[in-house]
Amino acid sequence: MEKETLNFLEDINGLFYLTAPDARDIMLRFHKEMGLGLAGKESSLKMIPSFVGRPRGNEKGNFLAIDLGGTNIRILAVRLDGEGRAEPLAMSRYPISHEAMTGTGVRFFDFIAGSVEAFFKEHNIEAKRLQNLGFTFSFPVVQSSIASGRLISWTKGFSASDVEGEDVVELLVRALKRRGLGFIDVVALINDTVGTLVAKSYNDHICDMGVILGTGTNAAYPEKIERIAKYQGPRHQDEMIINIEWGGFNKLRRNIYDETLDASSFNPGEQRLEKMVSGMYLGEIARLIIVDMIKEGLIFNSPIPEIFSQPYGLTTEHLSLAAQGQISHELGFTHMSQTDKDAILEVFRIVSNRSARIAATAISAVVTWMDKKIESNHVIAIDGTLFEKYPGYSQNMETMLADIFGDSAQKIRLEKEKDGSGIGAAITAAIASYSKNKSLIARLPWLRHR
Ligand code: BGC
Repeated sequence: MEKETLNFLEDINGLFYLTAPDARDIMLRFHKEMGLGLAGKESSLKMIPSFVGRPRGNEKGNFLAIDLGGTNIRILAVRLDGEGRAEPLAMSRYPISHEAMTGTGVRFFDFIAGSVEAFFKEHNIEAKRLQNLGFTFSFPVVQSSIASGRLISWTKGFSASDVEGEDVVELLVRALKRRGLGFIDVVALINDTVGTLVAKSYNDHICDMGVILGTGTNAAYPEKIERIAKYQGPRHQDEMIINIEWGGFNKLRRNIYDETLDASSFNPGEQRLEKMVSGMYLGEIARLIIVDMIKEGLIFNSPIPEIFSQPYGLTTEHLSLAAQGQISHELGFTHMSQTDKDAILEVFRIVSNRSARIAATAISAVVTWMDKKIESNHVIAIDGTLFEKYPGYSQNMETMLADIFGDSAQKIRLEKEKDGSGIGAAITAAIASYSKNKSLIARLPWLRHR
């Protein structure tokens, strides 16, 4: 590789690399923002009470779930056996069209209700036997109860009109009625991170964090209720799961590429951590760096592949495939010199490594918030394609944990929790319908004797 190219890459590495001292500094800022968020003060971490705690593992029955928040919507019927096993009885996945994501809110919720209807037909399910539904809606929502909450603002490129500020459960219920599915009772509304934590802790009581590393990123953890100063609701339990909304954290060192990406995004100034970490953005950050290398004449004597000239043309999936050696033709690698290829792969490595190291730092912040000296074991349930599919990603996270904590890092286990967000919705529906029945019995004592 030419000396200039090597120097350029070294500078880029300097801009993107996160050291252990950097991480410790970030953790302190993270703690400060967590405290402010829990107190209801101005903070880049929303720290949203979910109105639900971790399950006991004895929740039982059949429940419906909608899991929405990425590129697909999933509808599930789940059986909970009351002994920690949750088994999907049926599941369908439908792609969310660009029109549904960006059209009117009515169209968006009609699409969701239509997917439920299609699911019933596809699996030949006698609809009325499954009535209680848990709704995973993976956006920042301020909840006012376990089954209601208003969308604060869209993320991840969604923009359906007349939804921000509205109660998304009400919008769903209305759409279900329009489809003749009014018998469905939407008993729980949760974030995907809450679902992931709930699903894992249904049979693993050590689990105390749910994390998503996919199109977007975020995490949830159980908080002692007396530490949630802003929470005014009923206090039936000792703990409540908090949806951190860490994608919004804005106390990270940013570089010129982060600023460029943010300035031309659909939500400038928002979701700053998400824009450095999640699958929606890594390809674009890498592309911006490569465009600079092209401008400086460091790579490409041959024709420049299309993919590098279109905003968001290069996706995180391309990065992931390239890292697996499955060099995609679209990247133009077939006509490229070896040194150009090496330079590009190095850019991909730098960008994805920063993502993994920031994600591990944020996890470290939450773990030390719960357990300052890491005296206990912690299982972190993680879902999302970045964690699951990107080669070396989870190892890079583990390296960062070891850089921060040394040997104590072994007490923090990162575990894949595939499809936890949907299963978690079903388990939360079980918790919610149980407490609903309990309060009904309390109000109508004669029911107790039946
Ligand atoms: C949303 C979160 C969600 C995360 C992962 C973010 O864009 O704001 O609510 O948990 O994506 O899906």
